[in-house]
Amino acid sequence: MTSTTPDTSATEPMPLADRLKTETAEAHLQAEKHPLMAQMLSGRLPAEQFLGYYSQLYLAHQWLEQAIGRAPVTSDPLDMLRPTDDGHHSHLLASDLAAAGVNVAGIMPGPAVANLIASFSPLSDRLDPQLVGMRYVLEGSTNGNRMIAPHLRKAYASTGNPLTYLDPYGESQRPRWQAFRAALNTIKPQDHDAVLKGATAMFHLIHDIAQDLSKP
Ligand code: HEM
Repeated sequence: MTSTTPDTSATEPMPLADRLKTETAEAHLQAEKHPLMAQMLSGRLPAEQFLGYYSQLYLAHQWLEQAIGRAPVTSDPLDMLRPTDDGHHSHLLASDLAAAGVNVAGIMPGPAVANLIASFSPLSDRLDPQLVGMRYVLEGSTNGNRMIAPHLRKAYASTGNPLTYLDPYGESQRPRWQAFRAALNTIKPQDHDAVLKGATAMFHLIHDIAQDLSKP
C-alpha cells in the first residue's frame, strides 16, 4: 500500500549543530593533528612558543568578544548565542599569561590574527552570523581543551601558568555544550551558510597561528 503523506525528509535542512560538526570535521582534524599540537602536548615545544600560541589565542578571543559585543541586540535567535559573562574567556587567557610573566598589554597580533582583523567587516545592523560560527569553534574547543589540560599543565608547569582557560566550566562542561548546540539549532536556515563560513574561517585562523609559530 502506498502512503499519501508527502515525504518532506529530503528537503529538511540538517540541524545546524550537526552540520557544523560534520562539515568542519576535516578542519578539526587538521587543528588537532597539527605538529605544533603534538609538540605542545609532549612539552617539546619551547615555553616561549607555547606562550606565543596562547597569546595569539588571547587576541582572537578578545577580538571576537568585542565584535559580538558591538553588534546591535535584536530579537533574532542568533542573539541567543552571545556569550554570558562566564562565556568570555579572554580574561582567563589574560590572567594565565600574566601569571607566566607575559606583558599582556604588549601582545601584538601575528600575521594570522592581523589578517583576520583587517579582512573581516561584520554586518552592522545585527549580529553577524559569521561571528556566531567563529564562536562555535572557540566554544567547542573547550571540549578538547578539558582533555588536554592535564598534559599541558604538566608540560608547562615551569612557566607558572595555571592554564585556567583550558577548563573554564569544570563539571558543567557537557550540559553547557549541549545547551550551546540546542541554541545553534534555533538559528534560521537562511543564516546557516554564513555561520558555517565563520566557523571555517576560525578553524583556518587557528591553523594559520600554528603555522606562523612553526616557522623557523
Ligand atoms: C589536541 C587537540 C584537540 C583534541 C584532542 C580535541 C578533541 C576534541 C574532542 C574529543 C571533541 C568532541 C567532544 C564531544 O563531542 O564529546 C572536540 C570537539 C570540538 N573541538 Fe576539539 N580537540 C582538539 C583541538 C581543537 C582545536 C585547536 C579547536 C579549535 C580551536 C577545536 C575545536 C573543537 C570544536 C569546535 C568541537 C565541537 C565539535 C562539535 O561537536 O560540533 N578542537 N574536540
